[in-house]
Amino acid sequence: MDSIGSSGLRQGEEALSCSEEGLPGPSESSELVQECLQQFKVTRAQLQQIQASLLGSMEQALRGQASPAPAVRMLPTYVGSTPHGTEQGDFVVLELGATGASLRVLWVTLTGIEGHRVEPRSQEFVIPQEVMLGAGQQLFDFAAHCLSEFLDAQPVNKQGLQLGFSFSFPCHQTGLDRSTLISWTKGFRCSGVEGQDVVQLLRDAIRRQGAYSIDVVAVVNDTVGTMMGCEPGVRPCEVGLVVDTGTNACYMEEARHVAVLDEDRGRVCISVEWGSFSDDGALGPVLTTFDHTLDHESLNPGAQRFEKMIGGLYLGELVRLVLAHLARCGVLFGGCTSPALLSQGSILLEHVAEMEDPSTGAARVHAILQDLGLSPGASDVELVQHVCAAVCTRAAQLCAAALAAVLSCLQHSREQQTLQVAVATGGRVCERHPRFCSVLQGTVMLLAPECDVSFIPSVDGGGRGVAMVTAVAARLAAHRRLLEQTLAPFRLNHDQLAAVQAQMRKAMAKGLRGEASSLRMLPTFVRATPDGSERGDFLALDLGGTNFRVLLVRVTTGVQITSEIYSIPETVAQGSGQQLFDHIVDCIVDFQQKQGLSGQSLPLGFTFSFPCRQLGLDQGILLNWTKGFKASDCEGQDVVSLLREAITRRQAVELNVVAIVNDTVGTMMSCGYEDPRCEIGLIVGTGTNACYMEELRNMAGVPGDSGRMCINMEWGAFGDDGSLAMLSTRFDASVDQASINPGKQRFEKMISGMYLGEIVRHILLHLTSLGVLFRGQQIQRLQTRDIFKTKFLSEIESDSLALRQVRAILEDLGLPLTSDDALMVLEVCQAVSQRAAQLCGAGVAAVVEKIRENRGLEELAVSVGVDGTLYKLHPHFSSLVAATVRELAPRCVVTFLQSEDGSGKGAALVTAVACRLAQLTRV
Ligand code: G6P
Ligand code: BGC
Ligand code: BGC
Repeated sequence: MDSIGSSGLRQGEEALSCSEEGLPGPSESSELVQECLQQFKVTRAQLQQIQASLLGSMEQALRGQASPAPAVRMLPTYVGSTPHGTEQGDFVVLELGATGASLRVLWVTLTGIEGHRVEPRSQEFVIPQEVMLGAGQQLFDFAAHCLSEFLDAQPVNKQGLQLGFSFSFPCHQTGLDRSTLISWTKGFRCSGVEGQDVVQLLRDAIRRQGAYSIDVVAVVNDTVGTMMGCEPGVRPCEVGLVVDTGTNACYMEEARHVAVLDEDRGRVCISVEWGSFSDDGALGPVLTTFDHTLDHESLNPGAQRFEKMIGGLYLGELVRLVLAHLARCGVLFGGCTSPALLSQGSILLEHVAEMEDPSTGAARVHAILQDLGLSPGASDVELVQHVCAAVCTRAAQLCAAALAAVLSCLQHSREQQTLQVAVATGGRVCERHPRFCSVLQGTVMLLAPECDVSFIPSVDGGGRGVAMVTAVAARLAAHRRLLEQTLAPFRLNHDQLAAVQAQMRKAMAKGLRGEASSLRMLPTFVRATPDGSERGDFLALDLGGTNFRVLLVRVTTGVQITSEIYSIPETVAQGSGQQLFDHIVDCIVDFQQKQGLSGQSLPLGFTFSFPCRQLGLDQGILLNWTKGFKASDCEGQDVVSLLREAITRRQAVELNVVAIVNDTVGTMMSCGYEDPRCEIGLIVGTGTNACYMEELRNMAGVPGDSGRMCINMEWGAFGDDGSLAMLSTRFDASVDQASINPGKQRFEKMISGMYLGEIVRHILLHLTSLGVLFRGQQIQRLQTRDIFKTKFLSEIESDSLALRQVRAILEDLGLPLTSDDALMVLEVCQAVSQRAAQLCGAGVAAVVEKIRENRGLEELAVSVGVDGTLYKLHPHFSSLVAATVRELAPRCVVTFLQSEDGSGKGAALVTAVACRLAQLTRV
């Protein structure tokens, strides 16, 4: 509209045309003036109605409501955090659209040092009208040309330049560097751009230009650049307001409130695009005939109605239309008009701002009207200033109503009674108009009294802000690359998992043949799963998991269990064997007393969840401790004897230890009681392991060729021979070296609950040292072993947890983190637990395939009894295990049964079977 008058004559050259009829008298004149200016008066109630209606539209749009289409678009910008102040580097910024018929190129250096600013270098280029209305390619080629013209003048190297593209039009963004233009505004109407990715169009133009290799890292709306550019004062700016040729605002919204984003974590900057607000109910009453005329004659009639009442591209035009009207009414300029006055766009924003200047305004009015070929009288000058004031006051008030709506929306989403917020303001109307900002601020305080708002004028029109976003985008992109590099070894593909499965099959075969193997494949002397005829009361002990339990198991037609949990202090678990077994017997005696069983000698089944070479059902030589146990004088001993000796030491206690079983076997038996197809036991808890029913013919060292026996694989030790080295990461090595059994239980240390938290902790320390997390600040607490519990993974990865809860868990740990950090911690947890579940799945696939081949079956249907805190509590572990088994053992239909009563019940059932079999042999 820059002086694109429909008459096409140059300003001031035109002859005056004056109305023939007589001029109105003074009272009629003032009435005409009042009636005219009154139209621009907006009442507080009208402003509140606009505020309320805009707020309603904003919340509708956030909820993703499609019909009726909300009056404002609320576009996510993928800017998820306000500046850290640590951003640094040199960036090129290209601004297109913020200031109408000009584009600006800047060279911005960010020092990363709070308060240390390097003045950006910039150059402005006027965009020819025909380019603004021509083909899109022409516009982007023009932009690329300006870029290289600017860079030619800068002492910079031509490679690896990073550019932030400030594109001030409504766009659907699908990433920090992907943005599709919805519609042009503000005098632009290039063809072939709407619906296109403007970053790609710029990249193509830069490539066509071929002068520089420039990486377009981010595309930003000018309001976002303004918000991000404000100096981080007491609090970062979380709202960006621009009133230049157009007008718009952005603010930091909770991501979970933005329906289109399937993200319920962190915050995201939303570009409101309030220029398109047009709720007839709210706006209708304040729209004047001049607004309708302006809209009708604009490039985009019916669109951007709100913007056309506020934006600098339109204020001058509104004033012109009012002046022309008053002149025609004979109230102004003696009823004379001039071709320039009747030419669209002949009064610019600058003119209006100058004419309103309290000190030089009157003189400027004279000069400007003379330039328009008019000869204003003194009263004309005053009236013209009133007209300017009326138009601009209304614009500032309407803008305030819109801003008040944004503040209310922010208050709602933060669930805060009172809101303290900093608003960054930018644009020539804010910068140059003498009263716009004061009217705006005054009206905001009126409409949003519960908000304590500080207005921070942007220092360089958002160029720095765009560089900040580009720096953040570049930093996030760099961090993302480092995060991906760090987590890549945890992302196991099909071939790697199939290799683990094949490795495990080989180790199983060697272990069964009694050859050296990291899988000991220990016979358990459990030959049959329960057949339901078992009966009686049994005592059971369950040692080796998170809790030590003593159970009374009553087997009738069903199974009743009474149990008590006792703790095993670390001092006992790592003290002397005698101490440990005396502690166990103390617990049994305490339980018997509580259950009124004292003096009774019930058959006892002992779930002992450590690798034991069993010589019989009630004889198990402990091969080595695992899972943080290290009681002395036990390894190499028969633990049943150790228990019996402790019983003996504690006179007056009668116990009949019948069976010792591994927790995998107890779990298989316990689930087998409900589902006879359950022939595999799996534990994924503190430790991990599996057992299954193997053919006796395949078991060297166990007499008999027919029938089956349950094999305790002790797969926790898989890979202790180095066969998993290709998968082991530096973090696994750190966890292993810091463990009390370095070099041992390598498979377990990649899978089980005792170690996953530690793997995550080591990865977080590594990412912190790379500066990717916690701004590179090493956090003392994170240096503490076992501070990051595995249960945090289960909590953090649960779908229902919004990021703020993730943050809460981590903040409880004393980790000061941003939402980007929290998102990365989440990804680390996901990668570590996913690998664990997949490795576990590869192990189960090896076992079910072994059973299928054992039985020469095309298809095998089998159930797996599972227990263990990690498997049970982690939100995705079990489904990932099942998916991996389906992928690696497609000819097996595997049902996973979560054991309800733990393996204590299984131990009792093994004891019951043993007693039943013993009964049979006795008769
Ligand atoms: C259940 C079983 C125990 C087993 C444990 C493993 O509690 O009854 O025998 O050792 O699960 O899981 P955890 O997570 O406790 O190590
Ligand atoms: C555009 C917005 C922009 C505003 C201020 C409006 O016309 O739609 O994207 O932020 O002008 O430049
Ligand atoms: C032990 C196994 C046990 C597993 C699960 C491992 O550390 O060696 O015997 O089954 O943990 O508790």
